Amino acid sequence: MNILLLGSGGREHAIAYKIVQSPLCSLLFVAPGNAGTAGCATNVDLKIDNFEAVKAFVLANDVKMVVVGPEAPLVAGIADYFAADESLKNIMVIGPSKEGAELEGSKDFAKAFMQRHEIPTAQYRTFTKDTVEDGIQFLATLKAPYVLKADGLAAGKGVLILPTLEEAQRELRAMLEDAKFGDASSKVVIEEFLSGIELSVFVLTDGHHYLLLPSAKDYKRIGEGDTGLNTGGMGSISPVPFADKTFMKKVEERIVKPTVRGLAKEKISYKGFVFIGLMNVGGDPYVIEYNVRMGDPETESVFPRIKSDVVELFQHTWNGTLNEAVLDVDHRTAACVMMVAGGYPEAYEKGKVISGLDHFALGVDPGMQPIVFHAGTKTNDQGQVVTNGGRVISVTSFAESLPEALLKCYQGANLIQWEDKYMRNDIGQDLLKLMM
Ligand code: AMP
Ligand code: GLY
Repeated sequence: MNILLLGSGGREHAIAYKIVQSPLCSLLFVAPGNAGTAGCATNVDLKIDNFEAVKAFVLANDVKMVVVGPEAPLVAGIADYFAADESLKNIMVIGPSKEGAELEGSKDFAKAFMQRHEIPTAQYRTFTKDTVEDGIQFLATLKAPYVLKADGLAAGKGVLILPTLEEAQRELRAMLEDAKFGDASSKVVIEEFLSGIELSVFVLTDGHHYLLLPSAKDYKRIGEGDTGLNTGGMGSISPVPFADKTFMKKVEERIVKPTVRGLAKEKISYKGFVFIGLMNVGGDPYVIEYNVRMGDPETESVFPRIKSDVVELFQHTWNGTLNEAVLDVDHRTAACVMMVAGGYPEAYEKGKVISGLDHFALGVDPGMQPIVFHAGTKTNDQGQVVTNGGRVISVTSFAESLPEALLKCYQGANLIQWEDKYMRNDIGQDLLKLMM
């Protein structure tokens, strides 16, 4: 069958890498894709928020499955658009309905959902412009640091953690009264600060049954030792050593099962990924956030560990038969480091020629040598691969142990160069310390 994958990041290259391994896939199209996806699939110049254009492409190219990488088309209702159209309704869309996507699209919706289904999360209250004074007073009843979250999508920037009450009260006004994050902050969730270590848990669900995919840890800050500005993610490790059987059992019983049961009970159509951002607070898991897609760069360490045919898993997801699916996972550790443009996550340049990619020969056992997943790259008019975004390219390696996986990963990453390349050299080091 022909498959269309929407998105252009490292996540999509890693998903594409797995899709094309499936004998069920005839042609894979990626819209818009990057220089990496162009190597394993056909890139299509489509605006993925233009559903009419997606429809025209799907019908013209006999596409039978659409896999949605990022959240924006889901929050905008691409699954509902397909379901409501006579000519599209039998096309398998992997991604939740608009209502399901509210788990990521609205923090207030997500918190209320968790409360209804008794899913452990930080205590919270939601405020609007009309109740800003109540919010100011509520903050005064909490202890520092203060957590403020813009309700809507804010490109990963909508969460503020503030050390003093004065700053928290000032920022609350800026969000509600001065629309600091535009419409996204017309509602603000204020919640209790949770102290612990974070991890990302991934679930594939058909709305009734689920598979627990490998978990991962990502590294959000730009600087080593988790300092500096937040980024989209600078690296990832899968599995997470502290997410042992006991901890994962708690995650499954207290969080995953009630989440899937809650979706079914509320008749929310959900055929896709749930990415649960968790805090391990003294051995107990609490939900920090839901996302309705895979994580990036977590996918770059999670997907290569999946040995099962992902297209078959997606078919089960669409058909509501995930209970019949078998998930086969590589037991080894995968480590991923993301290389970024100098300056990122603030202003950065594009168009720098990337060298060293020829070290990563195609056809070599991917379990043995590093895998390169492109993020912000493109091929220029001279046929050179150049930088085209903040997060540029990543390297994933497998090994029996985390130290070995990291060593191989950095050996690979050091072969790739461009003028202002930057990467963190301490991915995984915190986990190594925890393990000692
Ligand atoms: P989010 O966009 O909800 O993932 O939040 C961004 C980051 O803020 C998270 O990855 C956490 O590191 C942090 N964070 C969010 N909520 C809390 C909380 N209640 N307590 C502590 N840290 C938090
Ligand atoms: N790595 C975090 C995210 O994809 O949101």
